[in-house]
Amino acid sequence: MENIEGMTRSGLCTEFNENNIGQTVTLMGWAGKVRDIGQLVFIDLRDRSGIMQLVVTQDNPELLKKAQTVHLEYVIAATGKIRQRSNVNPGIPTGQVEVELSELRILSKSEPLPMQDNAKEENRLQYRYLDLRRPEMQANLILRHKVANLARNYYSDNGFIEIETPVLIKSTPEGARDYLVPSRVHPGKFYALPQSPQMYKQLLMLSGFDRYFQIAKCFRDEDLRADRQPEFTQIDLEMSFVHENDVMTVNEGFLKKVFKEIKGIDIETPLPRLTYKEAMDRFGSDKPDTRFGLELKDISDIIKSCGFKVFSDVAASGGSVRAINAKGLAAQLSRKTIDALGEFVKTYRAKGLAWISINDDGIKSPIAKFLTEDELNGIISAMNGEKGDTIFIISDKNKVVYDALGALRLELARRFDLADKNKFNLLWVTEFPLLEYSEEEGRYMAMHHPFTAPMDEDWEFVDTDPGRVRAKAYDIVLNGVELGGGSIRIFNPDMQAKMFEVLGFTQEQAYSRFGFLIDAFKYGAPPHGGMAYGLDRMIMLLTGSESIRDVIAFPKVQNASELMSGAPDFVDEKQLEELSVAVTKYEEEE
Ligand code: AMO
Ligand code: AMP
Repeated sequence: MENIEGMTRSGLCTEFNENNIGQTVTLMGWAGKVRDIGQLVFIDLRDRSGIMQLVVTQDNPELLKKAQTVHLEYVIAATGKIRQRSNVNPGIPTGQVEVELSELRILSKSEPLPMQDNAKEENRLQYRYLDLRRPEMQANLILRHKVANLARNYYSDNGFIEIETPVLIKSTPEGARDYLVPSRVHPGKFYALPQSPQMYKQLLMLSGFDRYFQIAKCFRDEDLRADRQPEFTQIDLEMSFVHENDVMTVNEGFLKKVFKEIKGIDIETPLPRLTYKEAMDRFGSDKPDTRFGLELKDISDIIKSCGFKVFSDVAASGGSVRAINAKGLAAQLSRKTIDALGEFVKTYRAKGLAWISINDDGIKSPIAKFLTEDELNGIISAMNGEKGDTIFIISDKNKVVYDALGALRLELARRFDLADKNKFNLLWVTEFPLLEYSEEEGRYMAMHHPFTAPMDEDWEFVDTDPGRVRAKAYDIVLNGVELGGGSIRIFNPDMQAKMFEVLGFTQEQAYSRFGFLIDAFKYGAPPHGGMAYGLDRMIMLLTGSESIRDVIAFPKVQNASELMSGAPDFVDEKQLEELSVAVTKYEEEE
């Protein structure tokens, strides 16, 4: 095998074009397609920037012979003269030219690749380093770099200081499960990997840094989905002496810049703001996709005394009956499809899915027999029902109605392609509830985290009606995905103590977990607030990827393993001994 001794690369493939005809250049990269037509060999040379066609002619028989031994994915270095190409390829930036070689070195050979272009994801992840050779993957990661760079520049320009916070920290689980790291020096003790830099960034405000940001790795041991990974990256920030509006405004500036520079789109600011209540009432979701209609409407009043007990009973017992109008979709909604949708909403705990179809030959509905003409017409008119529409109705506890109709709305959009892929609908959701009752835990939990400040006018209800207290919290939502979120924080130690009490911690428990923060707040804490974006999600949406796996260089799969290296893995007994760790159960090898 040869090396590059004495050869200097002139640049990347796509830096050369018809303006460089006549120049001698040296390029290095991987061999793509190789076409051997006897007296001529064409090699597509590929590097990170794109492709340049190399040509070796029979004027140089030695070189021709060598070129004939080059195969797919061989790494080569080539020197030659740029010339006009006879078969122009307008599809690529170097399509007007080719390089006629005077020297060719084979630097590395490649075995036939263990995966093809259309390989299954499992295969792609096993050979991720090869998968990352694909131009789409390179483009995704390069775009990710650009956004991270934009963030660094934007926040720095706006007075934010990047400060690193530790990755080995104390375990303070409240939300997802922590990843733990055993301490060798302190047998029996563990560090946790941070779920976010939350407490540290608040302490930095207390120290007087005024504005902080960090592109931070976060770790959460939770079930994976398309938009969740056990380790992911946040653009994290915090500001002192601010109101919600200040945080939102500075971040709108960032989003404006990202969309302008990455997508060439001018987004209008201030962005739309929906309260949590309005988002739930209209879209059945706290992260609404507003690219299409199908909004929810409460029709409880219309049917409150109807003959269908499922409807009238629930309205009387504090639940609700709500509907969406699948505008113009009646003809496409066969009985089979409607039945499938009925099964779909059951996965959101709805007990059934009632519907009214307004067809050419009249109204069809399994519940028509229970309703008076006035009630039926009342529903249709409330939903702006017209010929060609199908109205879907769900009656249940509010939470189930929101979840099921919200999901049905998205499912209809998916099936009938209602969401414009070229639209980017950004909006804030504000005034989240501070607390959420967990049936599982039998107590109130912080909806965001325990440091989020309540809305001043609601705090008085914290003992009598905790569910009613709203928070100074906000999420930024893009096309139905929670891109980021944050809040104004509690900075008053008494209020923080009260908050821990409401969350069911005894004073001792709160102190043993959060003592350092509680103490710190006794020494002059400024009012402060901030937020964090999921960088992976942002890149997923900007690149139109289906999953955040496609924008992370080495992601993990559903069961949290990394297929390429095989992490997690068993470790030596000796390592365990050093750490004073005893394993009580081993996963069986597959
Ligand atoms: P939160 O928990 O809402 O807030 O996280 C902020 C954003 O991080 C992204 N995100 C994830 N991305 C990929 N995989 C995951 N498992 C994952 N979990 C969260 C989301 C989310 O909106 N400290 C607070 C922020 C603050 O209050 O300043 C926090 O972490 O896009
Ligand atoms: P049934 O008389 O039980 O067959 O119900 C008549 C229709 O009402 C069927 O289309 C059911 O899917 C629907 N239905 C049943 N329970 C509910 C509910 N909680 N909300 C909405 N529709 C329901």
